[in-house]
Amino acid sequence: MIDLRSDTVTQPTPAMRDAMARAEVGDDVYGEDPTVNRLEELAADMLGKDAALFVSSGTMGNLIALLTHCARGDEIIVGNQAHIFVAEQGGASVLGGIAMYPLQNQPDGTMRLDDIRNAIRTDDVHYPRTRLICLENTHMRLNGAPLSVEYHEQVREIADAHRLEIHTDGARIFNAAVALNVNVKEIARFSDSVQFCLSKGLAAPIGSMLVGARDFIHEARRARKLIGGGTRQAGIIAAAGIVALETRIERLAQDHANAKYLAEQLADVPGIELDPSSIQTNMVIFDLAPNGIPAHELARRVQAQGVLLQPRGAYKLRAATHYGVTRADVDTALQAIRAALAE
Ligand SMILES: Cc1ncc(COP(=O)(O)O)c(C=O)c1O
Repeated sequence: MIDLRSDTVTQPTPAMRDAMARAEVGDDVYGEDPTVNRLEELAADMLGKDAALFVSSGTMGNLIALLTHCARGDEIIVGNQAHIFVAEQGGASVLGGIAMYPLQNQPDGTMRLDDIRNAIRTDDVHYPRTRLICLENTHMRLNGAPLSVEYHEQVREIADAHRLEIHTDGARIFNAAVALNVNVKEIARFSDSVQFCLSKGLAAPIGSMLVGARDFIHEARRARKLIGGGTRQAGIIAAAGIVALETRIERLAQDHANAKYLAEQLADVPGIELDPSSIQTNMVIFDLAPNGIPAHELARRVQAQGVLLQPRGAYKLRAATHYGVTRADVDTALQAIRAALAE
């Protein structure tokens, strides 16, 4: 199967399996797992932050960040297409009593700066207290759009003017850094905390990192334990994370080139609507002509030819490129899609 549903389907590399088998481990709740400690130091260093925390998933990293930044009754400003708002079961509200103020995401993954300014609450007994602005880079639902360093800086200025904090859901922040051709530190420096995933394009089997200031990570470690996320000989999986950070980042450029190629070819297929110039990383989201073949039916037809796509709406699908997908696989997928639409 050529699996284009998501970059979460990546398999650990042989080097990861080898590192996992040989990992030195200890009890991480006691802070005694040398491999986890090494991964946390590496992540903090790469992102230019004081400290890092290894967590089980992106969802857990975001939740812990929000629980740590906010008290019950505080409010976050977040995009209406953000993973935190759409796809984490409202965990921050359910478990933390945190209100969410969703703002319209623009097609490039940003929220308008004026919308952010207008959403910040005044000190009024009717309102919750604005505490945190959440960004998502790359923006998964909006074609994996990378947010620019300048945008992060502009949001920082607003946050500073109102004494707010910023959390970036950087599940794919290395995709953003590669696409923008900047050091990832340049993106991260304008956020108080960043969550990024080891398990997506970087191909580790499990895990995300939350990075930030030392005191913040100290508190985040408590929140991780609170929600049952303290794990013991976690070095077994952290070992794969180290390999991910040391060896898998360069490959993302190839994933982006494959996505661009796929998008350019798809844009020429009758019945598909897509602007290839909007594809800058590894997500290709495209529309089918309304009232034509529905997304589920197209996915079923291409599956019969050995290709998996992810339906994301009645006439919307996603194809994500990753290291398990070669240029030849993209050509095979294109053939399958053309054939399925012609059936
Ligand atoms: C932007 C973004 N944030 C967070 C997550 C959550 O990551 P996980 O599936 O590891 O919980 C995802 C998962 O796809 C994502 O795309």
